[in-house]
Amino acid sequence: MSESGDVFEIMRTTRAMRRLKPDPVPDALIRRILEAGICAPNGGNLQRWRFLVVKDTAIKKAVQAWYRRAYDEVIGPRYASSAPPPGVSAERYRRQHEAVEYLTDHFHEAPVWIVACLEEDGPPTRWSGASIYPAVQNMLLAARALGLGATLTTRHLLFEKEAEAALGLPPGVRSYAILPIGWPMGRFGPVGRGPLEEVVYQDRWGQPYAPAEG
Ligand SMILES: Cc1cc2nc3c(=O)[nH]c(=O)nc-3n(C[C@H](O)[C@H](O)[C@H](O)COP(=O)(O)O)c2cc1C
Repeated sequence: MSESGDVFEIMRTTRAMRRLKPDPVPDALIRRILEAGICAPNGGNLQRWRFLVVKDTAIKKAVQAWYRRAYDEVIGPRYASSAPPPGVSAERYRRQHEAVEYLTDHFHEAPVWIVACLEEDGPPTRWSGASIYPAVQNMLLAARALGLGATLTTRHLLFEKEAEAALGLPPGVRSYAILPIGWPMGRFGPVGRGPLEEVVYQDRWGQPYAPAEG
């Protein structure tokens, strides 16, 4: 197990790792990932997050059927007709599409899933998301630090009711992400992003960001 410590390096290299080996992952490592998750900020520290760890192949397969259908009906056609995002070459985008397709076929073969959920009364809001996605990101970073691959996925939400029924979620609990986790087949590498200058302004919208030197 490789464990690296520089948080900036970990952030720079926490990519969606979609090709995973089916080999088991020790429970102790999953526990460390979950512990990192619950360190995250959350509204009022109410900690309404709930995490379902799924290893049962039948459950994963039932959800994968909806994940696959969402690819066939929505995501696949979208990838086929869209241009590469900022900072991503056409070649890299093509490889991303291939990896997305790979994960679609092998979703259920990831040895462990963590399903990030919230117990909430009303409809989901930006505040709900803001109280669960920091935990999700902490878990992605923790997995990376432990040498494990993971991907933030939300595609099952295109068939939310069906996928959540397959997961056996009780009323009042909503899922926000499924993280398939396993030992990566490939290597970790830098994320591809556009330049900072194109997304940061200073004082007035559209005015270039001008940090002081030094
Ligand atoms: C809200 C959200 C939903 C996502 N859903 C999926 C998904 O369902 N399947 C998938 O393969 N990747 C999913 N991703 C991963 C993104 O595709 C990935 O972060 C993006 O392409 C950048 O790639 P990188 O993180 O490897 O640099 C999702 C990411 C976010 C933030």
